[in-house]
Amino acid sequence: MPVLTARGIVKRFPGVVANDGVDLDVTRGEVHTILGENGAGKSTLAAVLCGLYRPDEGEVRIDGERVTLHSPRDGLARGIGMVHQHFRLVDRFTVAENVALGDESQPVVLDTSRLEREVAGLGERFGLPIRPRARVSDLSVGERQRVEIVKTLYRGAEVLLLDEPTAVLTPHEVDALFSTVRAMCAAGKAVVFISHKLGEVMEVSDRITVMRDGRVTGDVRAADTDRREQTDEQAMAKALETFETRLGKELLAPMIEEMARESGQTAGPSSEASSLGTDGPWSGSPAEPRGVRGPWG
Ligand SMILES: Nc1ncnc2c1ncn2[C@@H]1O[C@H](COP(=O)(O)OP(=O)(O)OP(=O)(O)O)[C@@H](O)[C@H]1O
Ligand SMILES: [Mg+2]
Repeated sequence: MPVLTARGIVKRFPGVVANDGVDLDVTRGEVHTILGENGAGKSTLAAVLCGLYRPDEGEVRIDGERVTLHSPRDGLARGIGMVHQHFRLVDRFTVAENVALGDESQPVVLDTSRLEREVAGLGERFGLPIRPRARVSDLSVGERQRVEIVKTLYRGAEVLLLDEPTAVLTPHEVDALFSTVRAMCAAGKAVVFISHKLGEVMEVSDRITVMRDGRVTGDVRAADTDRREQTDEQAMAKALETFETRLGKELLAPMIEEMARESGQTAGPSSEASSLGTDGPWSGSPAEPRGVRGPWG
């Protein structure tokens, strides 16, 4: 049974239907990517799933039980936690204090050393190097993100919604984040990974749901885990081909073009940019989109 289910989610803002009948099934132990261009409705969906927004229509189920989440706190109490695009930490507090902040289960007088040990322990367990005593104002963006993740884990999140977490990271930090994501899934948690970068999506996802204009336009799953072993650009090209066949070239063309731009190449005309095979935008590029370890053979 999926740990988290969305059915027919509709969320309207003045003049725009940000989510227009979205269905989603998130499974424990899996990285479930939501892929889509700017404005597709990814963040809105995540905000509904974590309790930040109430949907206008549709329902959310956790472990099969229909729930009404009134706040992110409510979501966390049921094991759903979100790490936002823009962090929500208090600069003048330490890492450990930020983790404890707003946690009603903390004693009135903080047991700081216990808290620091727990925070450090969680960081170690999931490959998130953090310094519990450091002040948040002194941290790099990557460290701040790790604090947000640890904070979510500390509250007992079983499903972690990560909204474009790689946007603020260096390539090295992205690798580290993906290790953490895999460790969380290996521990039986589920990760909802939001991105518009096809290359990294291919690398880390077990399942991909594509959104456009508030709707789900495609859904693909990594068929066979042996393919994780493949490590060359041909595997990536083949993955893309599979992906395109199932989802349609037209849908992916803008993302493929963006990927080509990011890797320092000029995308050709869109027919070329979306053509696959080894002549695709990935072949032979020095800025090959990051290690090709994805399950998408
Ligand atoms: N709080 C809001 N008030 C009004 N409109 C909003 C609000 N949040 C999102 N929207 C609109 O809803 C649509 C979906 O936005 P959303 O932020 O969910 O997309 P996204 O896929 O996360 O995009 P991005 O890649 O830019 O983060 C967009 O048209 C956006 O302008
Ligand atoms: Mg967004």
